[in-house]
Amino acid sequence: MKRLIFVAILCPLAVAAFLPAASVQGDDRGRTSKNVTFCKDVAPILQQHCTRCHHDGGIAPMPLETYKDVRPWAAAIREAILEHKMPPFHASGPQGYFIGDPRLSPEEVATISKWVDANGPMGRASDMPAPRVWKDDWTAGKPNIELSMPSPFLVKPERKDDYAFFVLSHVFAEDTWIRGVEVKPGNVQAVHHVNVYMLPASEANLPAGRVDDVFDPVKLGATFYVAWEPGCSPLIYPAGVAALIPKGSRLAMQVHYAPTAVPLTDQTLLGVHLADGVIEKQARTLYGGTKTLDIPPGAADHQVVEQRKVPEDAIITGFTCHLHLRGKSFQLRLHYPDNRVETAFEVPRFDPNWQEVYQLARPIKVPKGTVAEYVATWDNTSKNRLNPDPNKLVHWGDRVEDEMMDGYLYYLSEGEKLELQVKGGIASNKK
Ligand code: HEC
Repeated sequence: MKRLIFVAILCPLAVAAFLPAASVQGDDRGRTSKNVTFCKDVAPILQQHCTRCHHDGGIAPMPLETYKDVRPWAAAIREAILEHKMPPFHASGPQGYFIGDPRLSPEEVATISKWVDANGPMGRASDMPAPRVWKDDWTAGKPNIELSMPSPFLVKPERKDDYAFFVLSHVFAEDTWIRGVEVKPGNVQAVHHVNVYMLPASEANLPAGRVDDVFDPVKLGATFYVAWEPGCSPLIYPAGVAALIPKGSRLAMQVHYAPTAVPLTDQTLLGVHLADGVIEKQARTLYGGTKTLDIPPGAADHQVVEQRKVPEDAIITGFTCHLHLRGKSFQLRLHYPDNRVETAFEVPRFDPNWQEVYQLARPIKVPKGTVAEYVATWDNTSKNRLNPDPNKLVHWGDRVEDEMMDGYLYYLSEGEKLELQVKGGIASNKK
């Protein structure tokens, strides 16, 4: 919906750009490409793509809301968008391929570029879009269960990123169907992003609270559930779809705290929305990865390929991947039974600090027997600025300086018809 409105705003500009120069001369209504102003043209783009992080009290270092905020950053903004560094988004594919695709269109990039070339004029204040209000409410409504970190966590001033793993105390006493989860960061200045994990009943003796020195919760038997990023819509499944939290499980959060100059406290909340009504399909994942990794020192393009068979006729809805500091790219290819090959997801410039969940605007149907191919590439040279040691042979491990390869394909079973009657997350007619 938002996107539609936005296209409408851009159209007059795009049309003007195609008119012969002579016909736009003398147009004094401020509609031509020659008269790009902040209030009329640039502010709506920033509002749409940038201010969810770049607002007062947001996670980005500076607000980009008012003319006064933005003008000093004009050149840096142009550079960041031309190099596709901002907004942070790491998958490729045509615009509109993903739900909530934050990327700027070429027209939007051109508009900002022209504005910078024209020395960043402000324009008329009356053209300014209404300011967006940033509330810290739950965006998907009040969740049925609010889980909190057991106590406020002190984020110490440090120059490096901290990946803190917190086990939550709530035990799901029965098999529980959920519609989705939402993360509410306690302190947006500190919280960069959050990964939500499910911890099986077999880990019941792991006490609630921070587990020290764990970069990779997979080692604790946790399975990745979903990632959260500032301003992104929470994960809520469509009607009739729900995920199952098995009896005895708990949820856990890995919170990525960005470096901070001053001590901060954080107590992030996790909201759980229980399923209600008839559930037809279970949200499923097809995992592809390995623990057999030997990445030679100095290797610029070390590649590992893993294959998994799609076990049933499936509807692919999304994807996410996980590598550590030497991660360079990740691809998910589909090899169909009729020999067609399709790249369904590609993260050409992997960035360990931004691990998005990519949801398809149009899910892909694949027949049973399709082979999902997970292709990970690492850069273990000194050219990789995040590389802690290019002279090391790197193996699988749960420390930041080790490596991992995890790919998750999100899908539904096409033929599944559970017909579960669910109330407050509990099914009354178990299969
Ligand atoms: C998801 C949050 C997020 C969004 C959306 C976002 N930024 Fe940023 N931005 C950041 C963070 C965090 C930083 C600090 C550096 C970093 O972590 O990469 C940053 C840094 C910057 C910088 C500083 C220079 C640089 O390249 O590091 C500029 C300029 C910038 N952003 C512009 C933008 C513009 C323009 C948009 C929208 C088109 C945008 N950002 C959208 C989070 C965001």
